[in-house]
Amino acid sequence: MDEQTSDKPAKPEDELSVSNVSVQTADLEEKWERFARKLSRTSKSKRKAKRNKSIWNFQNKIILFTVVLFIIGVIIWTLLWLFIVQAENKDALYFVGLFRVANIEFLPEYRHKESREFLSVAQNVQQVMNLVYTKSTFSKFYKQSIVSDVSNNNNGGLLVHFWIVFVVPQAKGQVFCEDCIAAILKDSIQTSITNRTSVGSLQGLAVDMDSIVLSVGLRSDYSSTTGAGTNCIYDLHADQLHQHFPLDISTTSGRMICYFKLIALVGYLIRLSVASIHIEADNCITDSLTIYDSLMPIKNKILYRICEPTNAFLSFVSTNNLMLVTLKSTQVRKVKEFHGYFEVIPQEKCGKAILALGSTGFEGRIMSPYYPSYYPPKCICTWTFQTHQKTLGIALRFHNYTISEKSIKGCEHGWWKINEHMYCGYYIDHQTIFRVASFMVNIEFQCSSKLSEQPLLVEYGSYNISQPCPLGSFECHTGLCIQRSRRCDGINDCFDESDELFCDVPKQSCNTSSLTQHPSIFCDGINDCEDGQDEQYCTESIPCTNNTFKCSNNICFRKQNARCDGIIDCLDRSDESNCSCGSTKYNSGHHRIVGGSETQEGEWPWQVSLRFAGVAYCGASVISKEWLLSAAHCFQGNRLSDPRIWTAHLGMRTQGKAKFVSTLRRIIVHEYYNSRNYDYDVALLQLSTPWLDTMRWLIQPICVPPTTHRVHTGEKCWVTGWGQRQEADDEAPAVLQKAEVEIIDQTLCHSTYGIITARMLCAGMMSGKRDSCKGDSGGPLSCRSKGDGKWFLTGIVSWGYGCGRPNFPGVYTRVSNFATWIHKYVPSVF
Ligand code: ARG
Repeated sequence: MDEQTSDKPAKPEDELSVSNVSVQTADLEEKWERFARKLSRTSKSKRKAKRNKSIWNFQNKIILFTVVLFIIGVIIWTLLWLFIVQAENKDALYFVGLFRVANIEFLPEYRHKESREFLSVAQNVQQVMNLVYTKSTFSKFYKQSIVSDVSNNNNGGLLVHFWIVFVVPQAKGQVFCEDCIAAILKDSIQTSITNRTSVGSLQGLAVDMDSIVLSVGLRSDYSSTTGAGTNCIYDLHADQLHQHFPLDISTTSGRMICYFKLIALVGYLIRLSVASIHIEADNCITDSLTIYDSLMPIKNKILYRICEPTNAFLSFVSTNNLMLVTLKSTQVRKVKEFHGYFEVIPQEKCGKAILALGSTGFEGRIMSPYYPSYYPPKCICTWTFQTHQKTLGIALRFHNYTISEKSIKGCEHGWWKINEHMYCGYYIDHQTIFRVASFMVNIEFQCSSKLSEQPLLVEYGSYNISQPCPLGSFECHTGLCIQRSRRCDGINDCFDESDELFCDVPKQSCNTSSLTQHPSIFCDGINDCEDGQDEQYCTESIPCTNNTFKCSNNICFRKQNARCDGIIDCLDRSDESNCSCGSTKYNSGHHRIVGGSETQEGEWPWQVSLRFAGVAYCGASVISKEWLLSAAHCFQGNRLSDPRIWTAHLGMRTQGKAKFVSTLRRIIVHEYYNSRNYDYDVALLQLSTPWLDTMRWLIQPICVPPTTHRVHTGEKCWVTGWGQRQEADDEAPAVLQKAEVEIIDQTLCHSTYGIITARMLCAGMMSGKRDSCKGDSGGPLSCRSKGDGKWFLTGIVSWGYGCGRPNFPGVYTRVSNFATWIHKYVPSVF
């Protein structure tokens, strides 16, 4: 074949591209030929030169060159694509939000995302958003806005849900705050002061300024709700009042991410009822059920999150005609399921006028809106009461709730205005009575939490202003009235121990019936009765001796070594409980120290150091293979409540030399923890990995005292920790410190601090010096039982005025009050 002709283009349309290439190839060709000639000159063999020439003919060179060029092009393009697209994804920031457009009426076609009507309204809004953000300071990072839903709503017009995407270099991520992005939108709305509404014009759209809500969204939510990230999205429209629409889902493997968008008739609300949910309990890190007061997963619209499995029946109400329920589990290993239903309910107006209350006593009840459902945020209720006599006031019996005067700080769980006085509400674990000494009472209750709150029940009635409690009874600080004879009997009848304070003359005249009524005073080593009969006749039959074991119900079991022999002798199992806890190879009991001193290796095997982001922050105690007990106040705050940022260091004396380190899987802060006065300052922590039996010589659980456990004034206990050695010294010791402290009389402590609740106990020295301090929080106050020598976790370091100041002892969480609460999560402990 002729070389020259074969180099010519075969088809005229190829001419342009080939000739383009050939301009450069002509040069190359010459070079190649020269090179080839040179080669042939240097070669002695003519045949070889000829072969070379045939390989490097012009046509082959062109083909080779084009192929090489093509491969290089493909590689560069792939690299560029990978780089740009990957970088873009990595740095994309997603915001999700909603606003109400007042001047567009809802059309049923908007329900269908493919309809012309939906596409046109979505495009309209998207264009407006594009204009807003391309003109803003963030214009160069703005990528796009996507309208994901438009719905009708109870305030009229259209509710538009949207996503906004920005592509930001990683370092600039911080300036993209939610508030800044929302402010751009709000600032672009032109409102006129004259028409006094919150609706203004946003490039022709009448947008309600007050309706704008925006928060950072997750990429997974973005791709699931705008693209094909999940096939588990349901738009559920309910138009039948009170009919139950079932919601059931169950998955056995893979990943679960489901969205249920619930939409009711205009003018009505949605009530979601949860019958049961089976998910992994880990603070909503991998598994969660989240209820939103919107159709998109907007963080600021969360009504409630369920982070652990439950079979308890719970229900929640929306504030509009829509709700979103998301169910997520990143890794389904065992079956995950949810059963419940939703219904359409009418809006409720809460509050009423209650006139002419009759005789003293409770005669009616008022409730939070939508009782017994959790009530939604943004509620206002007003009630007015009137008694038929000026001598009668109004008594309110709050169930598991209390109110106390509002301080400068806001209220977290509802605020109350009662005859012009302001109070904050708190959830607690008992009832309280609040009395208003007036025959006319106006009450206004406002929800203050952003989340839905537990239902509230309040009984009301009238009372005799001059004598609130019946004759012969005692008025507790909680407002309850108890029989005077129940004061100072060692039993917390008032729930806040106010009946057990100021009992300087504690001896009572006991009779058989009062002894049987209060069995805990039997045989406890303390003479509670004037004549000492509570200690004299421990039980009707067998007095307890050294060789017998006294069960918690005060029955003595006449059997040597009945305790922990693997045989249940006491009906209440108390001889076999706390058998593998509270022992240590060291005996600190006889060491007397002033202030604090260094501990020995293995002396306090239940002591834990908790590090937050690598920094020693709090203490805790080992109570089982995978559970620790600490103080709730260590975990207050967004980041502090995230278990992933914490590590627990066990079997450690010197900081950094732990025998065992584990991250936390779960933090359970007591639901009634009150950050204002540190009431219910207790938290359970679950380790991600349990410690091993092989570590037993350095790690041991401490015994959790049962509810019946009594602490006695003057008893000596030990507090341990790596906290500050002095109030003014912010350097923490490397070696674990211990100090012997004594249990302070609750009345005395009450009179110095004034705010000691039944969940607290004081320990230290009234003369000062020996105390816990900053950094010890959450750590143990360990007391040794006289009977079997076991160590009990009597207290948790909680708070105090300064450290080691005279007359201001340390305040500890009274652990025996939480035995039932702990048992709920860690049944193995008892
Ligand atoms: N709240 C402190 C902490 O965070 C503990 C304070 C204990 N104070 C005392 N005087 N005992 O570590």
